[in-house]
Amino acid sequence: MEDRFNTTAGWVLFAGIIGLGLSAVSSRIYHADKAEAPEEGGFAIEGAAEAGGESGEMGIAEAMASADVSKGEKLFAKCTACHTIAQGGANGIGPNLWAVVGEGIAQGRGGYAFSSVLAGHGGKWDFENLDAWLKSPRAFANGTKMSFAGLSSVEDRAALIVYLNSQGSNVPLPEVVTQAAAAAEDGAAPAADAAAPTDDTAAEAPAAEAKPAG
Ligand code: HEC
Repeated sequence: MEDRFNTTAGWVLFAGIIGLGLSAVSSRIYHADKAEAPEEGGFAIEGAAEAGGESGEMGIAEAMASADVSKGEKLFAKCTACHTIAQGGANGIGPNLWAVVGEGIAQGRGGYAFSSVLAGHGGKWDFENLDAWLKSPRAFANGTKMSFAGLSSVEDRAALIVYLNSQGSNVPLPEVVTQAAAAAEDGAAPAADAAAPTDDTAAEAPAAEAKPAG
């Protein structure tokens, strides 16, 4: 009895050590995957989606999928020195921003006198243009009179854009958002599979020993 118990205990311990070793190895393999082929590794996609992009390369559409309007409203405090956003609000140093999302760049805004560089830019304030503008107004329109350094965090820009969009625009969010969400879900499935072999090894090793002993 003693002996058998010790043997079994030994195998359980051994299986545990193997299990630990395997999980260390597999986590190393998945980390390597992550560095080399972020699109392919199940863990990599899931991790990137959760951590908000380790490299900071997340696209604005993806960032908007998890953006928080109330965070954007708070961030708008950075803009209120120059902008109002309420419907019919006055133009100040900068133009009123009610319903600006989806509008032509530097058109209208109650006769606000835009700089010639922004007025001549062309295009409209879609999500991509707003993202570039808020990241660096000067890079977007060199010579603009909006003296604002820009927001370096894509999450902050996404939150702010979602908030701007909620103020009179309500442009549908980009399709990429749903695709990114689907990709994140797909990524979760292989991750669950990868964990299984480690558990099996630990569970089967003592069972195999129990047969000859009994
Ligand atoms: C220091 C003052 C100032 C601050 C701070 C500021 N802006 Fe501006 N903004 C301006 C000025 C001035 C313009 C007009 C730029 C031009 O004509 O070149 C402008 C233009 C804009 C436009 C273009 C409007 C249109 O109809 O084309 C948007 C959008 C905008 N700002 C958003 C923001 C947001 C969002 C913030 C906060 C993160 C912000 N601004 C912070 C001064 C400011």
